[in-house]
Amino acid sequence: MAIELTPLPLPASADASKFADFGREVKGLSPGSLTAEQFNEIQELLYKVGSSHDVLLFRNADLTPEQQYALTKAFDPTSENYGHGNNKTGETKKSILHPDLKTIPRVPQVQLIGNGTVYNHEGLAEAKLKHPHHKTFHKTRVSDEDEAKGVTRFYRWHIDAALYDLSPPKVTTLYGLNVPKGDRQICRYDDGTGDELEVPLGTTAFVSGRTMFDILPPEFKSLAVRSKVRYAPHPYVWMAPAHAKSTGLGIETEGLEMSYEELPPWEESKVKTLPLLWKNPVTGALHFQVHPCGVSELIVDPLPADVKRTGNELYPDGADIKDLQTVRDLLYKMQRPAIAPNLVYPHDWDEKDLVVFHNRGVLHTVVGVFKEDQVRAFHQCNLAASDDPTGPSEEDIKKWA
Ligand SMILES: [Fe+2]
Repeated sequence: MAIELTPLPLPASADASKFADFGREVKGLSPGSLTAEQFNEIQELLYKVGSSHDVLLFRNADLTPEQQYALTKAFDPTSENYGHGNNKTGETKKSILHPDLKTIPRVPQVQLIGNGTVYNHEGLAEAKLKHPHHKTFHKTRVSDEDEAKGVTRFYRWHIDAALYDLSPPKVTTLYGLNVPKGDRQICRYDDGTGDELEVPLGTTAFVSGRTMFDILPPEFKSLAVRSKVRYAPHPYVWMAPAHAKSTGLGIETEGLEMSYEELPPWEESKVKTLPLLWKNPVTGALHFQVHPCGVSELIVDPLPADVKRTGNELYPDGADIKDLQTVRDLLYKMQRPAIAPNLVYPHDWDEKDLVVFHNRGVLHTVVGVFKEDQVRAFHQCNLAASDDPTGPSEEDIKKWA
């Protein structure tokens, strides 16, 4: 059967012109048992063609945890361990990721995530799952009254990555096994803009990191192409006492982060300093890939000597910005435009949907609220990569600085 591609079903809220390349449903392939040739085709579709699609959807997929691990690994054959390190989230009990992940014993690279209690699942006698709720993470929360009417929030915009010691996974695979159906919800931004987005229950929302860069005004493009972010050591432990913004896009600056002395032991050599823009090594596109919650510092290079200054540049002589409020304000100004309702793809999950996404090209978030008896079970897999992402080339810097 020939492979067939169709655009993802965009909601009416989406600006279709911004999603022309983004995402494809792939028909005619069994993702659990691809031949080498078929896999290459999938890899090209994800991020290797002239315009990368970044999100691929397979409907009605049959996929064992072993097959899911093998498929994920094929994108980075020398990668081996789960993106946060196998069973490592269990070790650092203070990490905010700890309650959200249950490991499949047979295939520790695959995590069971979802909501409600699941019994006799792939070697787990009983797993209590909790769909993350924004009230446990945001500074403010939707009132119970509004929540009863179906109002919710983006939980946390992120890249799947440990951001300490390990390299950010290249792809994530998400496979829906149990998908409770229910009323659509309204995702409210609550940031004074009045923005809101109607979403399917329990959607996973995606935005394009490429679009995030493309829509920036020139002075922010110049800043982004010259900048790196330094993540805190053990960022998920560091941020655990802090509260997020109402859009789920970063942390409010209240001085609540743990001090570096209180963190589990850490080494300078394992701290991650990564470019703001990650270059797709094949298409050359620049994707704005920052996990805003974990950032502790913004390091800006000066404008190259041969670039003519206009006077509008930010930090033309470079800077090492350590003030958290300033760092977060700058990142927020650059990232917030790309999570506008018309730039979000909220996936409407069906059972046996497999979504493969380019974790170095998109940001995503959990959304929505389930009741305790709404049982949701997903398998998630991503693998700490064999290398760190590449930043902008000298040419890119000259072009955009
Ligand atoms: Fe994720």
